[in-house]
Amino acid sequence: MKALLVYWSVTGNTEKVADAIEKGLVDQNIEVTKKVLASASEDNFCNYDLVFLGSPTYMFMPPEPVIKFIKGKLKTHSKRGDIKLKSPRLPGKKAVVFVTYSGPHTGENEAVPVGKYIGQMFEHIGFEVAEWYIASEFHGRKEMNINGALGDIRGKPNEQDLAKIKDDVLTLVKSISLL
Ligand SMILES: Cc1cc2nc3c(=O)[nH]c(=O)nc-3n(C[C@H](O)[C@H](O)[C@H](O)COP(=O)(O)O)c2cc1C
Repeated sequence: MKALLVYWSVTGNTEKVADAIEKGLVDQNIEVTKKVLASASEDNFCNYDLVFLGSPTYMFMPPEPVIKFIKGKLKTHSKRGDIKLKSPRLPGKKAVVFVTYSGPHTGENEAVPVGKYIGQMFEHIGFEVAEWYIASEFHGRKEMNINGALGDIRGKPNEQDLAKIKDDVLTLVKSISLL
């Protein structure tokens, strides 16, 4: 079992979640390589059994660098002939897309397009996909962290959230039938 964990983060929320996921995987004795998105453009996802890809939501879309990364991956896989009609599943290949968001207006719905967009890249190359959404502080936007649709999200993901994420890796890994 080989896992790759890739993330993009500016204000640290997605990075904290990535660190917690890494700890959860290590606890399960799963060999994991963690990378920031900018250094993962040459990695072939198909060389891993389990790939985690993390992104924040910006204007209910993936941030530009994440979109660019996904387009690059699609181009590479397309050239390699990995994208086939009806997207047949590659046995044993799983991906988890994790998205941090602050949801000030419509809650989790603001993050769902990000999970779906990134998830489609994995499905197109034959991976089974799970989505994971994590409520997180909108740094520098006090009002949105107190009176938004998610209520008081100051400091999230906090120590308790991160401990739960670490523990939830086991449940998640089981639910996508990896164990
Ligand atoms: C430019 C910008 C746009 C954002 N737009 C949204 C949004 O539309 N919906 C939302 O739920 N959160 C939005 N957020 C909040 C981020 O998704 C959230 O704080 C995320 O956890 C930041 O990730 P990071 O700390 O890893 O950079 C936005 C943040 C920034 C900086």
